[in-house]
Amino acid sequence: MYTKEMLESMKKVEANREANAVLEPRRMTAEEKDTLLKTYHPDYRQEEFDVLAIGPNKGEKVPKELAALLQANSRIQPDQIDLSHVDYDVDVLIIGGGGAGASAAIEADNAGAKAMIVTKLRIGDANTMMAEGGIQAADKPNDSPAVHYLDAFGGGHFAAKPELLYKLVTEAPEAIQWLNDLGVEFDKAPDGTMITTHGGGTSRKRMHAAKDYSGAEIMRTLRDEVLNREIPVVDFTAAIELILDENGKAAGAVLLNMETQEILIARAKTVVIATGGAGRLHYQGFPTSNHYGATADGLVLAYRAGAKLLYPDTLQYHPTGAAYPEQIFGALVTEKVRSLGAKLINVDGEVFMHPLETRDVSAASIIRECSDRGKGVATPEGTGVWLDTPMIELKGGEGTIEKRIPAMMRMFAKYDIDIRKEPILVYPTLHYQNGGIDISSNGQSSIENLFVAGEAVGGIHGRNRLMGNSLLDIIVFGRNAGRNASAKAKETTVGALTLAHVDAYAKEMKEAGITSDMVSPKLLPDYRRNK
Ligand code: FUM
Repeated sequence: MYTKEMLESMKKVEANREANAVLEPRRMTAEEKDTLLKTYHPDYRQEEFDVLAIGPNKGEKVPKELAALLQANSRIQPDQIDLSHVDYDVDVLIIGGGGAGASAAIEADNAGAKAMIVTKLRIGDANTMMAEGGIQAADKPNDSPAVHYLDAFGGGHFAAKPELLYKLVTEAPEAIQWLNDLGVEFDKAPDGTMITTHGGGTSRKRMHAAKDYSGAEIMRTLRDEVLNREIPVVDFTAAIELILDENGKAAGAVLLNMETQEILIARAKTVVIATGGAGRLHYQGFPTSNHYGATADGLVLAYRAGAKLLYPDTLQYHPTGAAYPEQIFGALVTEKVRSLGAKLINVDGEVFMHPLETRDVSAASIIRECSDRGKGVATPEGTGVWLDTPMIELKGGEGTIEKRIPAMMRMFAKYDIDIRKEPILVYPTLHYQNGGIDISSNGQSSIENLFVAGEAVGGIHGRNRLMGNSLLDIIVFGRNAGRNASAKAKETTVGALTLAHVDAYAKEMKEAGITSDMVSPKLLPDYRRNK
């Protein structure tokens, strides 16, 4: 139940609604954004980072929670693993059963490769399934990949790897067409044209969506395609170490059956890491919008095998995680809510920012409002600001919410909150890992025959990602990895399998004086109170 303070503040929001709905808040200048980010964005809290003492990114800072996993012990003793007994022998081993893994598998299958997906949960149990707002592609007459590039490059603070971002935006229209042909039910106007909206930092309406369950619709389609093609999927089986061959090329993985704890060996000519993000590491104590399995496993596997990471110190805090009620604390409130006209309002009923600034700027602005400015609304879990959802129907007419964001309506209705009539409380939630494994535009990491796709990749978006470019990158780079890993598999002969890199990494830890009581990859978060 709302507290007295919440109810009083809500009355101010209601009283100002009509005036606030027509307000055009100005955008911040580049200097204002810069100062805001440095002062309030969690990426700038130096005390929350540790410097890596070993590995390819030695000397660079990463979040403390990730540093602990990158510098933890392996789950295996290499000398106790029998690499001569191979349980699965494939061309392309795909680790991860989300959108990137499924897209890679479909393209590998198209190329005639023997592909196999292993996933620690079930296929589709992934961040893709949780994505709501949409997928960007410049496929309207007033838009172009060049404009898409400029939006994303600026939004990412000019840090994106140009060749990766180029690939992302130029292959976006084809990605939408591919999904459409596979059966994704995008929102369309009666004449059949795609309905597109703005996201934060976009200069054109290029967000294609399936209401506000875009990711679920895309994942449903990809999963059906994988299953219809009878591509093997090994569920509830985690990759816990990469296997290299005697020539240092990726050649498979040690697998752990999560139910029986059995260790299995997969040999492959090429490997694709598509393990997704890291929200369940709860950096800096933030709640997360991420799926249960988002524990940065791919980064740990690749790093221990010698792959370089890019920008592992930059995370995305989605500005609007649910701040109330506590049962959905941190759950995603899609940016589409703001695209459709809802504005962010402080405790006094005032609009305090443009609703579609880029995500890092929006998150920092909310944090400032709730901290130094003292204009947040106290909640049982901390604080938040209002997102005035009834404005959507003032702008778009009655029925807009049910038609365009039904999942949001349902999520809050479970707690007797009718978002058509009442505003909702939001606060930033850990949403996306901007950094990850460094790849070149063919999808290959610094380890030969190790490909990476999806959120485990670093550098596609630079230091901040725009809405809708993640659903896009899992498709573009998932397909890319599937195609290139299959082509590479055709010319690869696997040498003798080895886990020598695991021993070498342990030795490096010892020499650096690192002792850890942790094992990694983490695989699943642990929410038990008394461990
Ligand atoms: O707000 C959202 O719907 C999230 C989209 C994204 O991260 O791309």
